[in-house]
Amino acid sequence: CPVTAADRRPRAPRGAGPGRVTRLARMPTPSARPTRKAVIPVAGMGTRFLPATKAVPKELLPVVDRPALQYIVEEAARAALGEVLMVTGRNKAAIEDFFDRVPELETALEKKGDAARLEAVHASTEVAQVHFVRQGEARGLGHAVLQAAAFVGDEPFAVLLGDDIIDARDHLLEQMLQVQAEHGGSVVALLDVGRENIDKYGAVAVEPGGTDVVAITGLVEKPPVDEAPSSLAIIGRYVLAPEVFDVLRETAPGRGGEIQLTDALATLVERGEPVHGVVFSGRRYDTGDRLDYLKAVVQLASERDDLGPGFRAWLAEFVADLPAAGASEA
Ligand code: UTP
Repeated sequence: CPVTAADRRPRAPRGAGPGRVTRLARMPTPSARPTRKAVIPVAGMGTRFLPATKAVPKELLPVVDRPALQYIVEEAARAALGEVLMVTGRNKAAIEDFFDRVPELETALEKKGDAARLEAVHASTEVAQVHFVRQGEARGLGHAVLQAAAFVGDEPFAVLLGDDIIDARDHLLEQMLQVQAEHGGSVVALLDVGRENIDKYGAVAVEPGGTDVVAITGLVEKPPVDEAPSSLAIIGRYVLAPEVFDVLRETAPGRGGEIQLTDALATLVERGEPVHGVVFSGRRYDTGDRLDYLKAVVQLASERDDLGPGFRAWLAEFVADLPAAGASEA
């Protein structure tokens, strides 16, 4: 995932630029099947967070006192996606351990009468039914999603990237599920990242005139800034039609030599399958990026009932003592 600002952004300009694909999606048909399953790819190498990620998966880096991944599983559960598949890889065994029970730890907490921590430990294992599959080799997000084909079967499913936290108050996934139920096909989350940043993302061309929900007419992975179809970037939430698996099987490696999910979605659009975007304007943190990770920890800690008051007081003093931007310390 690329670098992002974690703040609220103004509404996106919706000019549909010269996308790689310009054919319009066919008339949407409502989806007969509800979305029940979530796929969370966590097999990436996390190179932006080296050396920490030599031994600890980036998805387990703590955001305050919970791994980033727990926020994401909780988001899936809140959206009634109680069946979760994680696509893992080598060096990711700690993720399976995290979602497993630790009876000796529970016994020790029980003996101590530490009910609050016992509840926290239970919450991390009971939040959803978590399954695992291995990706074998990190050949890209599209390839990771393809590993979920047997688990998903013939129904729509959600994909939540394992390092992308969406603020719980923003209900992005719920909105995407509604759009999928209404229109059928596939739905991606979009964020206006500004034209200057679009070359780090999958970019979309959209039909003009949309507001929060847009019809996508083309997609391209990490386009050069001057060729980008718009400043709307795909962020780490998708609701996908199962047809994407057949397309992924035939998708050749693209940008970076990886099998790109963006390329498979572009093929679906070319075939006339409906692909919609939900334009997000809430808070999002790419915890695989160091600056965004720091923002996530500060913001989520300062909003906590237990830690917030003390942390905010310290933070205010700390900020007051900071030298002005650009000034060097004496
Ligand atoms: P990223 O591009 O953020 O993951 O992929 P990365 O490759 O681990 O990150 P850097 O750039 O090296 O720091 C987005 C999500 O897709 C998963 C990652 O684990 C992450 O959650 N992913 C990516 C896979 O599961 N398999 C892959 O082959 C690639």
